[in-house]
Amino acid sequence: MIEPLGISHDDTVMSKQTGLRADDPYGGRRPTSHERQAGQPWDASYRGGSPPWEIGAPQPAVVRLADAGVFTGAVLDAGCGTGENALHIASQGLRVLGIDVAQTAVGIARERAAARGLDTEFAVADALHLGRLDRLFDTVLDCALFHAFDHDERRAYVAGLATVTRRGGRIHILCFSDSDAETPGPHPVSREELEAPFTPEAGWRIVSVRPERLDATFAPDGAPAWLAMIERNDV
Ligand SMILES: C[S@@+](CC[C@H](N)C(=O)[O-])C[C@H]1O[C@@H](n2cnc3c(N)ncnc32)[C@H](O)[C@@H]1O
Repeated sequence: MIEPLGISHDDTVMSKQTGLRADDPYGGRRPTSHERQAGQPWDASYRGGSPPWEIGAPQPAVVRLADAGVFTGAVLDAGCGTGENALHIASQGLRVLGIDVAQTAVGIARERAAARGLDTEFAVADALHLGRLDRLFDTVLDCALFHAFDHDERRAYVAGLATVTRRGGRIHILCFSDSDAETPGPHPVSREELEAPFTPEAGWRIVSVRPERLDATFAPDGAPAWLAMIERNDV
């Protein structure tokens, strides 16, 4: 049985669910395509200093979304990293759960929440098994997670999104795009690849996909990105 999230700050959702060894760097899950390619778990990126996506602030595009009032109700930040986006959304008075497979990042996010007096919830959990959260959300943010998944992982991820997104709820995805050959980010995604898993048959409606920028330390002016807004409807 899945225990409610946030009860213990020492445990992880995954280890509670699997009972697997705490010293397994992958927490008992299969390494993702990105981790297999990198030869190390996501967590290692946070243990060796600041990873390139850590800009020490929420992503400007996420701040603009928040200013536009798109985040409503219960919010899930999938692949939250050290929590700057989740904490920015929470500072607007919203209930936010940030999840990430990187335990070190989740620890930092919890420390930042405490330092800012926010009771934002952060949990170590796998976005490829979202159904295990056993929760529903009105809004989901994916800032730079989708593009790190391969074709099959995206299918699994979107199937999981269907189980945790309330009917009428919206998903906001910010991912690197293939729209600028000069300064591409890693894992550039075409518009077709972004839209492909969100089919009407599976209950999705693509509301909009527009060009954006995704800031990173290697691209101070931002790398070309897509910002997609996708709505969960009846199947
Ligand atoms: C490029 S970083 C972006 C982090 C954060 N959203 C931000 O904007 O700073 C991608 C994040 O997704 C996390 N991640 C990768 N695969 C994941 C999975 N299967 N489930 C949950 N988080 C995952 C990584 O650990 C990493 O923190």
